[in-house]
Amino acid sequence: MRIISGKDELRAAVAALKADGGTVAFVPTMGALHAGHMALVEEGRRRARHVIASIFVNPTQFGAGEDLDRYPRREASDAQMLDAAGVEILWTPDVATIYPDGPAISVRAGALGAELDGAARPGHFDGVATVVARLFGQVEPDTAVFGEKDFQQLLVIRQMVRERALPVEIVAVPTQRDADGVALSSRNLYLSPEDRRAARALPRALGEASQAIADGAAPAEALARAREALARAGFDPIDYVELRDAGTLAPVERAERPARLLAAAWLGTTRLIDNLAVAPHSG
Ligand code: PAJ
Repeated sequence: MRIISGKDELRAAVAALKADGGTVAFVPTMGALHAGHMALVEEGRRRARHVIASIFVNPTQFGAGEDLDRYPRREASDAQMLDAAGVEILWTPDVATIYPDGPAISVRAGALGAELDGAARPGHFDGVATVVARLFGQVEPDTAVFGEKDFQQLLVIRQMVRERALPVEIVAVPTQRDADGVALSSRNLYLSPEDRRAARALPRALGEASQAIADGAAPAEALARAREALARAGFDPIDYVELRDAGTLAPVERAERPARLLAAAWLGTTRLIDNLAVAPHSG
């Protein structure tokens, strides 16, 4: 695996990789890799001949007072994991390489990016869309792989690709979880052992609400119960627990079409997010 942090070197290496006519899958990340990221790499390998990954802790998607400065960095072990998984190029640009003129011309994530996590983290999805657009421009992949763990991010990227007619196929990978149900996340590294145990309440509350709604319970009641369960487990504050349309994130009163439960809540100084599909109620 080649580790590259210069634009010209990347361009030459990508051209050399594509010279065999094979396709390229791209897995953008912010590093501190875990099995969730590696599932994206594996999907990339199934979809394309070559896999390129990137590690870039993108400052424009962090708000003032967020965890940019303490975001975990583990370049050496990340590189080992990617190499062992068959990644051929690891793109590790620095901030000046991605933002030579500052954010300057940036992508606005629009209404979809203003909801939920976008309301809790103003500008977050503008930063995500901007960096992903720049990374796509540099790597020019045929396919790019994203996780359902960041469900709203996935929808924002899909919309951006559709609207700009970018020639990239977006592939989604289901959320990878620990044995106790907690979604794998680089931010789990922040949790004390006690908070890591309390975190189980998040997937459990979503699972129970999803099942109740699929069985015909009123969503408002199921959501209220989920919020209570999170509060009991020590989550504070709870940014949101919502049922939304799985394609548009429009509010859903009754689960008649594919819907998604989405939640964000804090354990101490750590913000956790999770989401789960809800089957339409067939009663
Ligand atoms: P990061 O949080 O490092 O995540 C990189 C990719 O891994 C994202 O597509 C995310 O959804 C996926 N991922 C993380 N945890 C996962 C899990 N438990 N199961 C499945 N997939 C998981 O998301 C970002 O970085 C950034 O916003 C980025 C897209 C790189 C732009 O800066």
